[in-house]
Amino acid sequence: MGNTIGIDVGGTKVLGGVVDENGKILATARKETPRQGGSELTRTIADTAKELMAQFKVSSVGVSAAGFVSSDRKTMLATPNIADWNGVDLDADLTAQIGLPVVIENDANAAAWGEAKFGAGRNQNHMMMLTVGTGIGGGIVVNGSLYRGAFGIAAEFGHLRVVPDGHLCGCGARGCFEQYASGNALLRHAREAINASPEIARNLLSRGDGTVAGLTGKAITDAAREGDPVALAAFNTTGQWLGAGIASLSVLLDPACVVIGGGVIDAGEILLKPTREALERTMPFAGKHPYPELIAAELGNEAGLVGVADLARAQISKGYFNP
Ligand code: BGC
Ligand code: NA
Ligand code: ZN
Repeated sequence: MGNTIGIDVGGTKVLGGVVDENGKILATARKETPRQGGSELTRTIADTAKELMAQFKVSSVGVSAAGFVSSDRKTMLATPNIADWNGVDLDADLTAQIGLPVVIENDANAAAWGEAKFGAGRNQNHMMMLTVGTGIGGGIVVNGSLYRGAFGIAAEFGHLRVVPDGHLCGCGARGCFEQYASGNALLRHAREAINASPEIARNLLSRGDGTVAGLTGKAITDAAREGDPVALAAFNTTGQWLGAGIASLSVLLDPACVVIGGGVIDAGEILLKPTREALERTMPFAGKHPYPELIAAELGNEAGLVGVADLARAQISKGYFNP
C-alpha cells in the first residue's frame, strides 16, 4: 500500500511526516502555525504536504487537528482553540492545492489511534487516551477500533462540565474539564499560586521574563523537576483534576489502560503521580472498582501524525473507514 503523509496541526507548529505501513516516519517537515488561522493555516498545511510529496511518492494525506471533525472526515465543524476555521471544508480546500485525497481526523483521536496501533496502547483492546496540552483531547479505542460516535465527535473529553458555572471555555460553555486540567490550566494554577504568595515564587518567575504573564509550561516543568514548591503545587492541582476526570470517564468506558499524552506529559511522574492518586481516591466503589493502568504516551509529538497517516492509508487505499 506504500507510504502516506500525516500532518498534525498544533498550536505552535504544523508537523508533517511521510509514514510507512509499520508506522515508521521516513521524513518530516515542520512549519510555524500561523496565528491568524483560517486560509493561511490551510495553505501552511498544503505547503508542508508539498514539501514531503517532493521527496516521496505517497497515495494520500491525513490531517489531524484540534476541533470537531465531521463524521465523513472532510469538514472542520468547530475549533475552540484555532481562529477562523469553523465550518471549513478542509478536504476540498486541501485537495485543490495538493491534488491528493485527504482525510481529516480530530487530533486526539488520531493520537489515540497512533498509540493504540504503534505505541503505548499496543495490544490493548479497550484503551482511552487524553492529550493534555492547550486543551484536553480525548480518544477512545473499543474492541480494537477507534470510536467516533454518530457525528464523528465522540471523545471530546475536554468539554465535560466539571464545575457548574465555572471558568468560561473556548467552546462557549462554562466549567469545562480543559479549563481545570490542561496545559493552559497548569499555567492558571501556577499564576494563582504566584498571585497568592509572590514572595515564594521568585525562583519560578526568574525562569521567564520575570512577569506572571510571561510564565510558560516549560518553565513550570523545569522548576518542578528541581523541586520548586510552587511548580509542584501547580502540577498537583492539575493532576487532582485530571485524575478525578479520568475516574468519571472510567465509569463510562471501563478501559484497561489510559494513555496520557500532550506536551504536559513531558513532566512524567510529576503529573502522573497526583493523577493516579486522585483517580484512586475519587473512583466510585473505590477499592472494589478495578483501576485502569495510567501510562505515558510513547510516540510523543508524533502520535497524531503517525495515527492520521494510518487512518488515511486505510480509508483511501483499502477502503476501510475504521481500520
Ligand atoms: C478540542 C478538541 C481537541 C482538544 C485537544 C479541545 O479544545 O475541542 O477537539 O482534541 O482540544 O487539542
Ligand atoms: Na477526540
Ligand atoms: Zn469547553
